[in-house]
Amino acid sequence: MPFWEHPTSAASPVVIAEQAARRAMLSATLAALYPEPTSLIFEIGCGHGHFLTAYAAAHPKIRCLGVDLVTQRIERANRKQTRLKFNNLAFLKADAVETLACLPAHVRLAGIFVLFPDPWPKRRYEHRRLLQTNLLEALAARAEPGAWLAIRSDDLCYYEWCNNQIVNNLSFKIAPSTPWPFEHTSYFQEIKGPYQSLIAVKR
Ligand SMILES: C[S@@+](CC[C@H](N)C(=O)[O-])C[C@H]1O[C@@H](n2cnc3c(N)ncnc32)[C@H](O)[C@@H]1O
Repeated sequence: MPFWEHPTSAASPVVIAEQAARRAMLSATLAALYPEPTSLIFEIGCGHGHFLTAYAAAHPKIRCLGVDLVTQRIERANRKQTRLKFNNLAFLKADAVETLACLPAHVRLAGIFVLFPDPWPKRRYEHRRLLQTNLLEALAARAEPGAWLAIRSDDLCYYEWCNNQIVNNLSFKIAPSTPWPFEHTSYFQEIKGPYQSLIAVKR
């Protein structure tokens, strides 16, 4: 079972110690990245970083952070960043909920992108879907008033499930008239079929 699914209450002392060490390291990294109050664009599941790199290039004054669980994807994203030397862009191999828990208190989210998240179509794996209540609550706790949450998916069932998650959430509301914040084709957008986009804003 991957660490981000491990129920802490049932975890062994080794797992708890590993989690504490990982969180301490992540907190230190984030504190070094953001020593001052910062308004951030956060991409969850940034993959190889194509999209957020383009966003950062188009918005040089806006700080951008992308996280992904897969080491090789973050290594590729960081190679782009090393080549381009953008001072407003960072990528970390980290779980989204852990990142939110470890961000310094003075960092707030102005916008969140979730592009082509894994749909986990089988009912028995629904609990693995990203936009669960715990993530929405962790995002809401960090989001500035009016912050947007932009979700795009090629899987209609997953898109409808996301829509329901937000309709039933007290912290975000669907904002159909809010325009998509930035267009650039992500890696999965390139290889998947037609997609739907959904924008919510923090209440
Ligand atoms: C289907 S890929 C999409 C990648 C990219 N957004 C794109 O459109 O090309 C979904 C990504 O979400 C990442 N992911 C899934 N759960 C995550 C979590 N809890 N925290 C961070 N990343 C996560 C996966 O590792 C994977 O790289």
